[in-house]
Amino acid sequence: MNNDRFLIKGLAGAKTLKGTVKVSGAKNAALKAMAASLLFKDEVTLRNVPGIEDIKRIADLLSDLGLDVNTKGKNTYILTPTKEISYRLNPDISKRIRSSIVLTGPLLARLGKVAFPHPGGCVIGERPIDLFIEGYKKMGAKVRVVRDEYIIEAPDGKLVGTELYLRNTSVTATETFMMAGVLAKGTTVIKNAALEPEIVHLAEYLNTCGARITGMGTPTITIRGGALLRSQKKAYVTMPDRIEAGSFIILAALAGKDVRIEKCNIENIQSLLETLKLSGVNIETGRDWVRVRSTKGKKGVCKAVHIKTHEYPGFPTDLQAPMTVFLTQAEGESLVFETIFEGRLNYTESLVRMHADITMMDPHRILVKGPKQLHGKTLESPDLRAGLAFVIAAIIAKGGSVVHNVYNIYRGYENIEERLQSLGVDIQLVSGD
Ligand code: EPZ
Repeated sequence: MNNDRFLIKGLAGAKTLKGTVKVSGAKNAALKAMAASLLFKDEVTLRNVPGIEDIKRIADLLSDLGLDVNTKGKNTYILTPTKEISYRLNPDISKRIRSSIVLTGPLLARLGKVAFPHPGGCVIGERPIDLFIEGYKKMGAKVRVVRDEYIIEAPDGKLVGTELYLRNTSVTATETFMMAGVLAKGTTVIKNAALEPEIVHLAEYLNTCGARITGMGTPTITIRGGALLRSQKKAYVTMPDRIEAGSFIILAALAGKDVRIEKCNIENIQSLLETLKLSGVNIETGRDWVRVRSTKGKKGVCKAVHIKTHEYPGFPTDLQAPMTVFLTQAEGESLVFETIFEGRLNYTESLVRMHADITMMDPHRILVKGPKQLHGKTLESPDLRAGLAFVIAAIIAKGGSVVHNVYNIYRGYENIEERLQSLGVDIQLVSGD
């Protein structure tokens, strides 16, 4: 692990940030589209792919499996399946990235066999894969665990379409079975499917290349299986990252004089916009932009609001940490209820060290009392979302902060310090001892 870190000089509550920031392509869309290249006979071109570490890891995994992986500039990938695709996911890379699990669906559907270790990823609590294992079994596959590896094989080399009810609404399980269903024999029906817009975006692209998916964006997705897809050079263009957009909006609400966030999909961030407006943030929206301006005087202090994370279209768990930083500056008591992941509130201990008034009620709920001036500290980024929340907290704090474990932030955000600097944030990347 290197010692790269951000040094941030806080604004001590001043609202001075100004300018325009453009939102990148969505990490959690592009990762799945890259995995979907395994469903193709010909090459797939992906544009507007964010230049982040998680994308590089998936590219490494695909290359290790035997695909030709090429890039054009920083944001275009060209992925070409070859005849020599391996069924075994590289364990070292897989363990570094949770979304490696989504490769198992298309790989198993294509080759009839897949081997992989328990995937890694964020430190946001228990990340089980039981839904995946149960689903593959229902699709006719045999599952063995040999030492640290799952080995899954479909008899006669083909998964069989069936009805899959997801006991938990899982984003990656929905995407994985949707991709597996594309090459399975017969029809796959996913019930209690996740509704996230990244799923719809993927399904729409696959359909333009010959897949037969209906019901995406609803709790029941139906996939009629068939042969390998052909892109015929139709490029996949990654949708805007709604979590990145939301994080910039929260930063602007906390420290912005006049900030414009461009290349957003407004519909996808409705829950956040409604919550911030309710709290009193001055927000204006256009077709694909959001403008946040500070309000002068006492009106500038926002009101406390309760949030409860929920599957889309509810309040996203991935925005819970930056939103909690926002609530430390809102007047009154806010309850934050994290319903998706246990362990995704642990980062709040560091906000308390920064003088935030936060009480942990139980592993899923905290009470935030504000407004409270935060103070700069030395922080350790535990995962990418909490990592960016620490950066935001450091920006509004009094005094300087050091945020370690920058790799975690680069997992999800491209050129983050440069984009923040362009708004007037005093942030420097420091490498070495
Ligand atoms: C996706 O994770 C995202 N990751 C996460 O983003 C995001 O936080 C999460 O969805 C929720 O929106 C990617 O898209 C790569 P889940 P995923 O399966 O699919 C339980 C980020 O920071 N579950 O929807 O892994 C699970 O424990 C990341 O970008 C099972 O019980 O999340 C959780 O309680 C982090 N068994 C619930 O489902 C399983 O087999 C929902 O998680 C799988 C999941």
